[in-house]
Amino acid sequence: MSSQNIYILAIESSCDDTAASILLNGKVLSNVVASQKIHEEYGGVVPELASRAHQQNIVPVVHQAIEKAEITKEMLHAIAFTRGPGLMGSLLVGTSFAKSLAFGLDIPLIDVNHMQAHILAHFIDEEGFSKPPFPFLGMTISGGHTQIVKVSNYFEMEVIGETIDDAVGEAFDKSGKILGLGYPAGPEIDRRAKLGNPKAFAFTKPRVAGLNFSFSGLKTAILYFIQKQVKINPSFIEENLNDICASIQYTIIGILIDKLKLATKETGINHIAIGGGVSANSGIREALKNGEQKFGWTTYVPKFEFTTDNAAMIGIVGYLKYLEGDFTAQDVTASSRLKI
Ligand code: KG4
Ligand code: ZN
Repeated sequence: MSSQNIYILAIESSCDDTAASILLNGKVLSNVVASQKIHEEYGGVVPELASRAHQQNIVPVVHQAIEKAEITKEMLHAIAFTRGPGLMGSLLVGTSFAKSLAFGLDIPLIDVNHMQAHILAHFIDEEGFSKPPFPFLGMTISGGHTQIVKVSNYFEMEVIGETIDDAVGEAFDKSGKILGLGYPAGPEIDRRAKLGNPKAFAFTKPRVAGLNFSFSGLKTAILYFIQKQVKINPSFIEENLNDICASIQYTIIGILIDKLKLATKETGINHIAIGGGVSANSGIREALKNGEQKFGWTTYVPKFEFTTDNAAMIGIVGYLKYLEGDFTAQDVTASSRLKI
């Protein structure tokens, strides 16, 4: 690694979080996220509102990141930004801002793939967190993503499994909506699941070939189940909420673990690095840990603030690309369907 001190400003605006971070080499000096509360009223992210909120937040968020890092913008060596995938209107805000600032400061611009960043977040220098050795399997699970990626090196990645419909976080959130829980429902389901019986109700797992996932059928199965039960007993949800949550979570975890077992078997790779907001789920963490004994794999979970959408993960990719001199021309455009 370079012996020079490299300061990177990173910007993330792919969905509903406006985020900026300053890194000094592989270390995070500041990591600022403005989460958009506005979407809670709608039970999901509203793209038009998201882009508008990004436009409001981006300058104060970047300013705060620079201030917290106790540097000045003149000390920056490069600006990294999320090029995609994500919501077009949201991406445009971060992309345009990054381009303008890099142009103004006359420093390199570095485009970053959001999905690669979720995985490379594991390479942020952070005390108490170990980095996975290559090759490893990255599993990114959030409200927008569900992917298993074979990672051979920093920029040698292959998606070997992904969802064909809903993301796993959506499975939590949409189930929560059926149960009348707030948005996002993942944390509440997690909390209630600890108090309930995971085997109280059985939901059939989707049958999807290979390493791909499907979660929309599960949501429908839960909806029909609840509708049927409520017809018999109008207080069914209130009386059984913890058991329902535990059963839903148990089913989702089963789906994820089954695919991971298959992925480790097919690839012969036993190091698993997880990321994304759903990786906060205590049941998933426990199942992954238990798998170390049961299936012989090793799991890696980054510091929580680097697993949900954040700019520090964009910054670490920016730093790795900076070391390779992999810079981006000013005519770069945001790409909502950018692939790994
Ligand atoms: O990574 P993230 O903050 O944003 C994106 O979706 O990109 O992930 C948010 C998702 C939501 O679907 C939320 O319900 C879920 O992560 N989530 C959880 C938990 N904490 C957040 N799902 C299950 N258990 C949790 N403890
Ligand atoms: Zn994300």
